[in-house]
Amino acid sequence: MTVKEIFETMDYGTAPESAGDALAWITDQGARFGHFIDGAFTDPGDTFATINPASGEVLAEITKGSGADMDAAIAAARRAQPRWEKQGGKARARFLYALARLLQKHARLAAVLETLDSGKPIREARDIDVPLAQRHFYYHAGLAQLLDEERPDTKAHGVCGQVIPWNFPLLMLAWKVAPALAAGNTVVLKPAEWTSLTALFFADLCRQAGLPKGVVNIVTGDGTTGAALVGAEVDKIAFTGSTEVGRAIREATAGQGKALTLELGGKSPYIVFEDADLDSAVEGLVDAIWFNGGQVCCAGSRLLVQEGIAQRFHGKLRARMDTLRVGNPLDKSIDVGAIVHPDHLSRIRQLVDGRGEGTPYRAKTAMPEGCYYPPTLITGLSPASELMQEEIFGPVLTATTFRTPSEAVEIANNTRYGLAASVWSENINTALDIAPKLAAGVVWVNGTNMFDAAAGFGGLRESGFGREGGWEGLDAYLAPAEGKALKPVAAFTGETAEPQPVDRTAKLYIGGKQARPDGGYSRTVYTRAGKLIGQAPIANRKDVRNAVEAARGAGGWAAATAHNRAQVLYYLAENLSARGDEIAKLIDRMTGGRTGKTEVEASVDTLFTWAAMADKAGGEVKQVPIRGVALGMREPVGVIGTLCPDAAPLSGLVSVMAPALAMGNRLVAVASEPFPLIAAEMIQLLETSDVPAGAVNLLTGTHAELAPTLAAHADVDAVWCFSSGDLDASVERASAGNLKRSWVSGGRDLSAVTTRDWLAAATEIKTVWIPYGA
Ligand code: NAI
Repeated sequence: MTVKEIFETMDYGTAPESAGDALAWITDQGARFGHFIDGAFTDPGDTFATINPASGEVLAEITKGSGADMDAAIAAARRAQPRWEKQGGKARARFLYALARLLQKHARLAAVLETLDSGKPIREARDIDVPLAQRHFYYHAGLAQLLDEERPDTKAHGVCGQVIPWNFPLLMLAWKVAPALAAGNTVVLKPAEWTSLTALFFADLCRQAGLPKGVVNIVTGDGTTGAALVGAEVDKIAFTGSTEVGRAIREATAGQGKALTLELGGKSPYIVFEDADLDSAVEGLVDAIWFNGGQVCCAGSRLLVQEGIAQRFHGKLRARMDTLRVGNPLDKSIDVGAIVHPDHLSRIRQLVDGRGEGTPYRAKTAMPEGCYYPPTLITGLSPASELMQEEIFGPVLTATTFRTPSEAVEIANNTRYGLAASVWSENINTALDIAPKLAAGVVWVNGTNMFDAAAGFGGLRESGFGREGGWEGLDAYLAPAEGKALKPVAAFTGETAEPQPVDRTAKLYIGGKQARPDGGYSRTVYTRAGKLIGQAPIANRKDVRNAVEAARGAGGWAAATAHNRAQVLYYLAENLSARGDEIAKLIDRMTGGRTGKTEVEASVDTLFTWAAMADKAGGEVKQVPIRGVALGMREPVGVIGTLCPDAAPLSGLVSVMAPALAMGNRLVAVASEPFPLIAAEMIQLLETSDVPAGAVNLLTGTHAELAPTLAAHADVDAVWCFSSGDLDASVERASAGNLKRSWVSGGRDLSAVTTRDWLAAATEIKTVWIPYGA
């Protein structure tokens, strides 16, 4: 055969990796596994088989965790937690470092075990999953070392319940366990039922690392075991998996005071502009959609190609698809391995086969028998087609075209998800103009599927909330200091029907205009002595909807420069200060106290602080190990709905409004329920301080009635509830609809909330990976 012929056929010999050591490890453990609780393996109980999807052979028997197993694991974690936290970050860093070293020493064994259990190509397990898992432990050893100095005012949550999926079993474990331990938490982790082996292998490494017993506990089982963990007495839940289960977890934990992060599904756009390097973009797609057989939450599964080059690009792509090698995952020469489980294969088939939509193309490559699905491209789909909207989670790329950059953004953002996006263009202006416009937690410029422990990863919308990686990921495992207990504050009542000297009937403030309440009802407001001081409108659901619409329409505020936003906040402070005495008196009259002056002063100070912060919280450059950098851009969350604190009508409102506005959010705020007349004063201040119409919308009314509407509204991106009524459960439950971020009081006031906490709540970190340097 000539060299020319070799290149033409691209024939290759197989290069199988030996499974011997990994199978021997399984046999050494008895091939029947119990859980890892309190530093030791339990006896196997009610077991199920874990299979090698590539061959169908049973690898081992795994125990299905019961409620009692879960209780034992949580009790062990609870016992171990105080000492684990108290010894300090530096001591914890040594253990994390030891775990990183052990993962490195046993890298090959871990990779082969992962490939056997999940069907992923050994090349990926060896070169991506395992090295990234090590890197995660190294990086978090570093964060633990620096923690006490960098985050002196925080503490660990306590015991974390962690539930992970089957697509990156060891890597997802690392993403969950490393930050939790670094922050001083102990964990109970439930691996996915199809892929528990590397978690059990990791348990063995914990023993070897001398990790104190109870710090890491692993309970295997299926969704029922996961649900038992979610419902148990833990302080935080971290979940990666399907949006459906994420939503169920949000509902199940509503009102339980558990911190929650959710990393869910996606349908990430892969956008190719006509000036892209097409060959690189095709090669990028191999990583975007055929990496791990497309069983990747951030897979570039929606291809958007500019119309003028679409035919040529699809042609190149089809040609490349035909050279993909599908087969035995242990063969180092293959590109696409087995589908994780026959059940998942059926699911992919059900979603894709025989749909009759678009033009499907299946790679003309040899397909082995068994649990495999061919690399597939479906072109000519409309953006609304189900195949373009539903997560397939397999090697199936669905495609459409666009004409202009703005149309590309529109189609890209036309999804309920918001996890990741790739942008391909050789024109720096195009790429960097599009990146900020994409609704995604991660954007790769001329690249795809890059990950690193230093760079935050996580989504928006129905892709969940919270970040993993970087300081932002660690912060999700740290609890803010607790404020004082929140006591219910009731409105004063009275009977005096004496007419007011001047009618000061307050109104709602929607879209920059004073508005009468839709329902036409107002509430009479009395002093402590029962003297009538005014009427406050009672907003209803329609008013909430109008206010949200106005806030949505005020997107210009997000685009205003930080300097400009700071100027507006300074102006507000100035105007508040000028009317300070008068407003302080009103506060004293309303509350029957003497806090008016302090409230005004605190509010002016808060406005100054956030004016100062506006142009100083842009984000961070992450040092990632590629030829490039990752920018951790702080972007506004969007529209924030908030129930303001009751007790301090002015400073409560300002403490919420100032950070939200400073960071470019629009706000729908419901003022203090017992002391609503502050809204009238604030409206006047807003009207005279250059705050653009719709950036702040102010309502008054009953928190318990308005909270669920605000929390459930699909156009609200986050909800903050600091009402003194017990609304946490209803707010968190209602927020599950579009999986918006929620922040509830947990029965504590805002006295301990720091500027960093507000900043984290008022921003989303978008990680933008860009080529940079040599
Ligand atoms: P899943 O969300 O059902 O499973 C993920 C993990 O959650 C597993 O450990 C499972 O045992 C556990 N779990 C299931 N029900 C639970 C419950 N009620 N409470 C607590 N834990 C529970 O994902 P599944 O069924 O394996 O895959 C279905 C689809 O989800 C996939 O086809 C894909 O579209 C998506 N998915 C997304 C992932 C991601 O990384 N975002 C990962 C895995 C699946």
